[in-house]
Amino acid sequence: MSFRVQDPLTLFSQWLEEAKATEVNDPNAMALATLDGDGTLSNRIVLLKGHDGLGFRFFTNFEGRKGRALRDNPRAAALFHWKTLDRQVRLEGPVERLSAEESQAYYDTRARGSRIGAWASLQSQPLPHRSALEGRIEDFVARFEGQDQFAKPDYWGGFILRPMAMEFWRAGEFRLHERVRLTRLNLDSGWTETPLYP
Ligand SMILES: Cc1cc2nc3c(=O)[nH]c(=O)nc-3n(C[C@H](O)[C@H](O)[C@H](O)COP(=O)(O)O)c2cc1C
Repeated sequence: MSFRVQDPLTLFSQWLEEAKATEVNDPNAMALATLDGDGTLSNRIVLLKGHDGLGFRFFTNFEGRKGRALRDNPRAAALFHWKTLDRQVRLEGPVERLSAEESQAYYDTRARGSRIGAWASLQSQPLPHRSALEGRIEDFVARFEGQDQFAKPDYWGGFILRPMAMEFWRAGEFRLHERVRLTRLNLDSGWTETPLYP
């Protein structure tokens, strides 16, 4: 059995669609690894909120740990693992902030509670007690009362990971999995496809 990728974006979209049909929840969840300013690695799940030829988009707080890490080291590795399909996809590349307009456009689509939450949460800062967060939520609920739409916080928005490398992996018998790594020299060039030993 052999497996060729050719167009990684198309294959990614196909695998994500198949995962949407089979995963119990969050088929768009990806582990995102970043490097802090002092070289410490860290990793957490975020949700993929869009992908196209430009890259893979996710949203977060710019002042949380990953936000600061991406300011100091604007590159990341992301990983999707779809257990029901026995597949994984790896992405590696530079990360850029989306424009404030694009972030606002996505923010406007979110549930009101999530939009308030983005204001209320000082992501990754110590929380002395849960009531401190609840108090901030009440403050912002009051602040935005009667407004259907309101501006996102400056410290919240999107990033785009622009892959320079992608790897598609699917399970094979006897742990003899199939792997194909694709790399490109720059963001405008075509992909070079290399099968890898499992
Ligand atoms: C299924 C799932 C989805 C998540 N999606 C996001 C997300 O899209 N954006 C985000 O900032 N945090 C998301 N989180 C929370 C992060 O994993 C993490 O706890 C948070 O962003 C703080 O990370 P940091 O301290 O490294 O910045 C999600 C967690 C889980 C388990």
